[in-house]
Amino acid sequence: MYAWKIGPALACGNTVVLKTAEQTPLSALYVSKLFHEVAFTGSTKTGEAILQSAAMSNLKPVTLELGGKSPFIVCEDANVDEAVEMAHFALFFNQGQCCASGSRTFVHESVYDEFVEKAKARALRRTVGDPFKAGIEQGPQIDSKQFEKIMRYIRSGVESGATLESGGERFGKERSRVMWRFADLLEDHNDQIAALETWDNGKPYEQAAKVEFLETWKSFLYTNSSGWADKIHGLTIPADGLHHVQTLHEPIGVAGQIIPWNFPLLMYAWKVGPALACGNTVILKTAEQTPLSALHAGLPPGVLNVVSGYGPTAGAALASHMDVNKLAFTGSTETGKIVIQLAEKSNLKPVTLELGGKSPFIVCEDANVDEAVELAHFSLFFNQGQCCCAGSHTYVHERIYDEFVEKAKARALKRVVGDPFKAGTEQGPQIDSEKFEKILRYIRSGVDNGATLETGGERFGTGGYFIKPTVFSNVQDDMLKAQDEIFGPVQSILKFKDLDEVIRRANASNCGLAAGVFTQNIDTANTLTRALRVGTVWINCFDVFDAAIPFGGYKMSGNGREKGIYCLQNYLQVKAVVSPLKNPAWL
Ligand code: NAI
Ligand code: MG
Repeated sequence: MYAWKIGPALACGNTVVLKTAEQTPLSALYVSKLFHEVAFTGSTKTGEAILQSAAMSNLKPVTLELGGKSPFIVCEDANVDEAVEMAHFALFFNQGQCCASGSRTFVHESVYDEFVEKAKARALRRTVGDPFKAGIEQGPQIDSKQFEKIMRYIRSGVESGATLESGGERFGKERSRVMWRFADLLEDHNDQIAALETWDNGKPYEQAAKVEFLETWKSFLYTNSSGWADKIHGLTIPADGLHHVQTLHEPIGVAGQIIPWNFPLLMYAWKVGPALACGNTVILKTAEQTPLSALHAGLPPGVLNVVSGYGPTAGAALASHMDVNKLAFTGSTETGKIVIQLAEKSNLKPVTLELGGKSPFIVCEDANVDEAVELAHFSLFFNQGQCCCAGSHTYVHERIYDEFVEKAKARALKRVVGDPFKAGTEQGPQIDSEKFEKILRYIRSGVDNGATLETGGERFGTGGYFIKPTVFSNVQDDMLKAQDEIFGPVQSILKFKDLDEVIRRANASNCGLAAGVFTQNIDTANTLTRALRVGTVWINCFDVFDAAIPFGGYKMSGNGREKGIYCLQNYLQVKAVVSPLKNPAWL
């Protein structure tokens, strides 16, 4: 167990803290002090406890290798003596204390009585150890109406053969074709879908149609359709001894997905795409603010099920359902902590999280100030400032600070705010009154704490949730520290002196989603790229989202990666299959 844990962690360059079992401390070694990742093997109950304390502290990703209830299947043509010996070994080896022990011996009726007799005789010759037991507790109570609705969705999926838990009834190429058709349907309805997105969310129509829709469509083509559905396969592995070893990559089953309101369509594509490509059934819950654009056109019934509803009822029901095999969540860190605990308390379904960020946008002293101002403006104000990766902390080198602030203010004043359906509008309203009020509260606290309000800082017009593009200068780190994301059109400009300092300050954040780096110097770019503890670094660009580029967070910004080849592993199980090789031609 020590080797299995320590080996890969060190091979990947991590520091390890390993806790041995209290009964057997001697052979394991204590390696180092840092605590970046927890990997745990033990009873399901202790696993649950560890997951919960990790979830309640800093959301460090946890991998669990817990109990199994492995079947050992004896078919009617088996040699009974050999089968008895092997089944006995499968269960009793190591006093029966193996996670993989063959604890459920299924025997064909034609040889059953003989098998039982011989198994009993074989067992009598051995001292029996503790049998392996794994128990999972029922999850918390949920809203019963939602529960039943979701149950029906799951059943409909199972009935239509959509749950491919047993290895795939629908071939990859067929899935590919179905998803191509889906992408085509999306393309045919571009205008309507983009309009729904603007009605729902308030974002400028031009951005909904050109940016969000386009990326959504490409994401379906790349991730779902021709992209991956027919290229999911395992490995043939050379192992010691006369054994044939292969891995099967199988769908995980029913995938539960919860998405937010800031990019309803794109989040839908990032979640649904890989889950379907891997052959899973999906239950997706949209955000209560933005239910309209999620579609289920062109797919076999039951495969993709969209549930509209509130977080604490519909969302929580999904997270805690015993028959949902995986949960993917995008939203706030606070809710991320809740859903991970619901998953643990129910069936320990694996959870991937894409949470908030407080992304630094670092403008170095050699930067072209006009270009840097434009890009920093875009990095923060795009989508009304409602982006998980928004460049909310604009760090500017002291040599160009004053010039930058002046120009950033001028740029914000030029931003076109108003009717999102009008051509040329850059900024629409915020999502709802709650978030509108929260942003204004943050602005007031900035002023109270002594930051300089350069422009904006109040509502735009008299109706709707419009906020004037706001720029603060002379912002100190501690003013931003206590905040969660402002998630609005508020740019905070901080001053720095040298690279070591800005790296230290940027990395002091408990988030690590993305960073922007603006410099002409390749050495500076390389230094920052490697030093910043974030999932994406954009050098001299920002928000370049391509379906092939992985996206996700370090630290409390989440775990797992969406998009590209990396997202597939979230929706697959790996099964190792081992069989003896008799008289092989070669090894
Ligand atoms: P939220 O994280 O609460 O909502 C996101 C999704 O989670 C929605 O579908 C919601 O219905 C669901 N949800 C809420 N409570 C739940 C629960 N108990 N169990 C299961 N699902 C639940 O985000 P919210 O409240 O809309 O926004 C709060 C703040 O979160 C924002 O001001 C912003 O700072 C941040 N946020 C970050 C996002 C990101 O992309 N990282 C997206 C949305 C919000
Ligand atoms: Mg919430």
